[in-house]
Amino acid sequence: DDSLKVNTNIITLTRFLTEEQAKHKEATGDFTLLFHALQFSFKSIAYYIRRATLVNLTGLAGSSNTTGDEQKKLDVISNDLFIEAMRSSGKCALLVSEEEEEIIFFNDSHGARYAVSCDPIDGSSNLDAGVSVGTIFAIHKLPDGSNGTKEDILKPGTELLAAGFTMYGASSQLVITMKGGTVNGFTLDTGVGEFILTHPDMRLPKSRAIYSVNEGNSLYWDERTINYFNSLKQSQANGKPYSSRYIGSMVADAYRTLLYGGIFAYPADKKSPKGKLRILYECAPMALVFENAGGQAVDNNMNRMLEIAPEHIHDRSGIFLGSWDEIEKVKTFFK
Ligand code: AHG
Ligand code: MN
Ligand code: MN
Ligand code: MN
Repeated sequence: DDSLKVNTNIITLTRFLTEEQAKHKEATGDFTLLFHALQFSFKSIAYYIRRATLVNLTGLAGSSNTTGDEQKKLDVISNDLFIEAMRSSGKCALLVSEEEEEIIFFNDSHGARYAVSCDPIDGSSNLDAGVSVGTIFAIHKLPDGSNGTKEDILKPGTELLAAGFTMYGASSQLVITMKGGTVNGFTLDTGVGEFILTHPDMRLPKSRAIYSVNEGNSLYWDERTINYFNSLKQSQANGKPYSSRYIGSMVADAYRTLLYGGIFAYPADKKSPKGKLRILYECAPMALVFENAGGQAVDNNMNRMLEIAPEHIHDRSGIFLGSWDEIEKVKTFFK
């Protein structure tokens, strides 16, 4: 009977984490608990975004953050949800957020062994139009003996334990990866309130003729940047130029790039000489996802993004990330 052919062997995020934990004999379950708190913040943020226009949560909060962005109401609420989730998990020693000038130390979380960076809402300029936005996170494990210091988080992405992002779109998608691991995608089933594994072992196509950049900044670009993007508009081997896709939320542009291939870039330019996107909670976590999915991520000097250690928690970088061959092409223009 076809009507009985429902998949009952579903891999929820909880099951996935439990099975991963079981693979590591030394695991204490702390990471699993931390991740439970994280996924609760993602579900809550998704819920408020869905309801924003109904409950007066559109528009500006009337404040700015350290990196100069005007804060939307949902930037502030999502930041608060994220902070409380990390605090109450008891497993997070310190937190860096785009929306907080300083590191938050959770001194009451005795024995907490993780340091987390987050962009509570990425793409917040798109919020009021109902365009996809997301949350980005990165997790470091504290070195043995540390109770959590600034140095524990000002590290290159090569030392990240885990990273990922959630995209709040037509459905909520969660993408996670661990150091040296695969990339796995989950979809929030709002009916059962669980993230379900829908995209196991995500791999980027090796190349794809799609580029994603804010072309309005071309007035500020240097010659190499102009030459590279101009080359994509010329006839390629198949006689066609590249397609352009730019949503303006890094998570959404990156998620599409992860699935379809291509390149996403936010290069440094004369207006933003150090780039716009921030290393700890935008560039590094996305770079870990892309490398673990078979792609590449580099900065404006064509150095591996994961090897860049920020000096300050809100430091920025130019970034190019995407399919392996697309990044190789970028390098030929910037070398
Ligand atoms: P955020 O909303 O977290 O401040 O990040 C905005 C970022 C990123 O989402 C996006 O890729 C980029 O800014 C868009 O910038 P432009 O509007 O300058 O294109
Ligand atoms: Mn912002
Ligand atoms: Mn962002
Ligand atoms: Mn943000």
